[in-house]
Parts: sequence; C-alpha cells; structure tokens
Amino acid sequence: MTYAVLERAPALEDYFGLSERELAERIESARRSLGSRVVILGHHYQRDDVVCHADYTGDSFKLCRLAAARPEADYIVFCGVHFMAESADILKPGDQKVVLPDLGAGCSMADMATAEQVEDAWDQLREIGAAGDFKVMPITYMNSSAAIKAFCGRNNGVVCTSSNAVPLFDKSLKEADKLFFFPDQHLGRNTGVKFRIPLDEMVVWDPSQELGGNTAEGLRRARLILWKGHCSVHGRFRPWHVEQVRRQMPGVRVLVHPECERGVVELSDLNGSTEFIIKTIGQAPAGSKWAIGTEVNLVNRLVKQHPDKEIRLLAPDLCMCATMYRIAPQNLAWALESLVAGEVVNQITVPEETARHARVALDRMLAIK
Ligand code: 13P
Ligand code: SF4
Repeated sequence: MTYAVLERAPALEDYFGLSERELAERIESARRSLGSRVVILGHHYQRDDVVCHADYTGDSFKLCRLAAARPEADYIVFCGVHFMAESADILKPGDQKVVLPDLGAGCSMADMATAEQVEDAWDQLREIGAAGDFKVMPITYMNSSAAIKAFCGRNNGVVCTSSNAVPLFDKSLKEADKLFFFPDQHLGRNTGVKFRIPLDEMVVWDPSQELGGNTAEGLRRARLILWKGHCSVHGRFRPWHVEQVRRQMPGVRVLVHPECERGVVELSDLNGSTEFIIKTIGQAPAGSKWAIGTEVNLVNRLVKQHPDKEIRLLAPDLCMCATMYRIAPQNLAWALESLVAGEVVNQITVPEETARHARVALDRMLAIK
C-alpha cells in the first residue's frame, strides 16, 4: 500500500503516533517522490529501521567520499551525527542541501575539543617553541567540528578517520617532527604504537591546564601530543572484558575499534574502523568465533548477517551510541516528507569561510587514500 505524501509536512510530533509499518511505507513513498533528487547516507551505527532506507551505508570516511560524489542530488539526508553532516556540507560538489534528521545527533567526543581550546593550545605550543621550531603538524580526527577542521586547514594540518589513520600518520611523521592529534587520545595512541613511538614520547594535552598539564621540556621531547578526549561508547570496553571472553569462548578472535583504550587494543587480535570490522567478519570462515568491541547496532547487524559464525559484543552491557540512535524513523519520515512539501528542515550549513579552510584539510586527507 502506498500512502499519499502530504502537500505540507506535519509537525515532527505527529509522526510519533504512526506504526512502524506506516513509517517505513511513508519513508519509501517520499523517497520515490523525490527520486534522484535525494540521496540518503547511513552510518553503520544507525539503527536497523533507519539504515534499511539508506542508499549508501559506510563508515565516516566512506560516507564523506560519497557525499563529495553525488552532484545529481539536491538533498543529502545524513543519517549519522552532526560532524559527519558538516563534512558532507563542506565537501558537497554543488549547492546541495544537507539535512540531519535530528539536530540533537551530536558526538560527545567531538564536543571534548572546541576550536577556541585548540587555538589556545596552539598558541601555548608556539610560545614555548614547540609549534614553530619543532614543526608540529595538527591532525584532527573526523569527529570534530568544522571550525577545528578549518584550523587544521589554516595550519598545514589534515583530517583523519579511523580507516586512514595509518597511511596518514606515515606521511605526516615524515613531514613533521611531531603530531598534535585531537580530540581522541586513544586513536592517536593506538596509531602511534603502530609506528613504534614509545609511550613515554606521547603526552596528553588536558585543555583545562596550563601547557595541557605538561612541562615545556616534556612537550619539546614528545613526538605525539594527544588531546584528552575519548569516546564514551568505546570507553566502556575494558581489558577484563577481553580476558573474560577468552575464558568463555575458547578460540575467540577479539576485534575492536581503535577508539578503545590502549589496554583493550593491546589484548585484542585485530583493530580497525567500522568498515574494517565489517570486511573482516565478512571474510571470516564459517564456524569462527568473534567478540567485537564497537557500537551495538553494528554488532547486532553482523550477528544477523552471519548466522554461520559465532559473534558477540565484547562487553555484556549495552554499548550504544545514544546520539546516533536519535535518528529515528520518525525523524527520517518527517525530514523526507518536508522535502517533498518543499520545506528543508534541519539543514546543516557550514559558514563559507570555515568551509573553505576545512575543505583544505579534508582534501589533504582524501588525497592520501
Ligand atoms: P568510523 O570512522 O569507523 O566510522 O568511526 C566513527 C565513529 O564515530 C566511531 O565511533
Ligand atoms: Fe561519537 Fe563515540 Fe558516538 Fe562515535 S560512537 S559518534 S565517537 S560518541
């Protein structure tokens, strides 16, 4: 059955009285009406009842490339979180409008570094001679605001995601004496270890303290300066979870996202981005056993897609990204039907000046892989 799409979209609250089936049918009906004018992108952490409507799914890197390659669409509806929609707006090939179906879908890690704090840290590093003479390269994780990406664009820096951190560090460590990495200390540390940088040459920058809580000498000696930020979802995985699952599932392989703390990554068998996790499980032999340390919606989907393998979430408790989960079918139906009615709701717009500099840092990343 096809539902008539309203000429004028009702208020968001009206969608909460609809059944799951009605919502799914109205989303598909609105998609058909919009045709190639809309492209729906879905991050792997999105819930099943949303991701099933996506034209493309991917990790933050893949979605960022896809957003840059859809000139025919008028609208990019981004089922993910705010920094991803911002990146799509920065990279869009024309004057597409980027829509985030729920403006509350942020990222607590991205919020752990503001552009003002990063600028202030940079000034302090310069004052002690650690930013000028020692050639520090700023690298921001994709999970950061457009303003921080713009800072990197202006200061010979670059953006990185969990899927390209290794080639990016490889190139950057050849060009600079040290890297200033924000906001995820764990991805920075886990990647630094892959380059055999000793842990005592990695220091943590706490933005609430003078010199980030370090001495000038310590900062001059450091090869990696890591922002004191983390993901609260991946932070729930603890080393004892790995030890426990090895006891409970003999022969298990432990596969985690590099946003997990060092102790967890150290005890695991493999670590990599969400795309890497999906690929690894896809290629694993039938009957193999896996404990996966990443967001629960993705892990549950892998469990369903691979009934021939024994797969479980690494931690027994729920590791769900609450902000990703904010994009519900109600929000998606509302956003799409609003577009059908000629109304663009929840548009994400990065100011032109910020976008121009941020694009420089994103383009440097895209040139690497
Ligand atoms: P990916 O780059 O693997 O998509 O990760 C993004 C993210 O927010 C993970 O928590
Ligand atoms: Fe941010 Fe963590 Fe959620 Fe990823 S899983 S969007 S890093 S809070």
